[in-house]
Amino acid sequence: MRSITSFAVLCALFMQSAMGIYVFSVFTSTSESNMYIYNSTDGLNFNLVKGPAYTPTTGLIRDPSIIRHTDGYYYVSYTTNWEGRDFAIARSSNLLDWTLHTTVSISDTAQARTWAPEIFQDPRTGKTNIIVSLGESLTTFNPYLYTATDATLTSWTGPVAMSGIGPNYIDTFVVWDEESGMYHAYTKNETSKYLEHAVAYNLAGPWTFVQTGNFAGFGRAEGPCITTLADGKYRLFADGYDSGKYIYSDSADLYTWSAYQEVPGGLSGFIRHGTVRNLG
Ligand SMILES: *[C@@H]1O[C@H](CO)[C@@H](O)[C@H](O)[C@H]1NC(C)=O
Ligand SMILES: *[C@@H]1O[C@H](CO)[C@@H](O)[C@H](O)[C@H]1NC(C)=O
Repeated sequence: MRSITSFAVLCALFMQSAMGIYVFSVFTSTSESNMYIYNSTDGLNFNLVKGPAYTPTTGLIRDPSIIRHTDGYYYVSYTTNWEGRDFAIARSSNLLDWTLHTTVSISDTAQARTWAPEIFQDPRTGKTNIIVSLGESLTTFNPYLYTATDATLTSWTGPVAMSGIGPNYIDTFVVWDEESGMYHAYTKNETSKYLEHAVAYNLAGPWTFVQTGNFAGFGRAEGPCITTLADGKYRLFADGYDSGKYIYSDSADLYTWSAYQEVPGGLSGFIRHGTVRNLG
């Protein structure tokens, strides 16, 4: 009896350690003007919270990247256009009602395209950053940093080049790893279409590639995001565009990844490039 009880307690503890609250912001294969919001307790099985949850008056919303900020609001940065020199940020208090918060203009007039702004709350510096892919042409994209200069994420300074990544990389997503004391970036080599892995001691670089080519067997894919799970492990999500599937893969160390699987629940094939965030 006692051992059964202990086993039950251990199971409960294990379940608890893997549980949390996760939110997932995406656009969809049926529209690039509608954002959908999902949530989950395990970072894998997602329920629709609202879709469409936000349709910007300016039209496009691709690549929505979500955070919950210290002020309690949710913020989503997103791509506003295939061509142009700005990205936008929307805000919500409840994940349901979204309004435009600010539009950030790119001062570098040589750039013609502004893609995939990914919000990154840096645990090391406490700053909120956005990593965005800027391209003078379709084959010269590189990642740049913007950093919030006020508490309400209204004013941003940038662009600062992330040296060592490029030329021709898009969809750069960064995660801080306390254990290695380094930033890890997963970024799409737009020449080969593979996700590659680079590391750095500072966000602006210099970045060094440590895994390249089809190193994890993800195949051609884009829009990676790395979610830190409740148990400290990592889960990569990406838009696997060869197969038209939304894939995920797990890792304990950010180097070795499990064979990828499709995101369950009928989402794969419908959802496109988004961000899964662990809200704790
Ligand atoms: C997910 O959203 C639904 C609908 O708003 C809500 O009832 C539920 O509590 C949420 N679950 C989590 C884990 O946040
Ligand atoms: C990106 O892909 C191209 C084409 O396969 C390759 O030549 C280049 O070395 C790759 N870049 C890195 C850093 O691996």
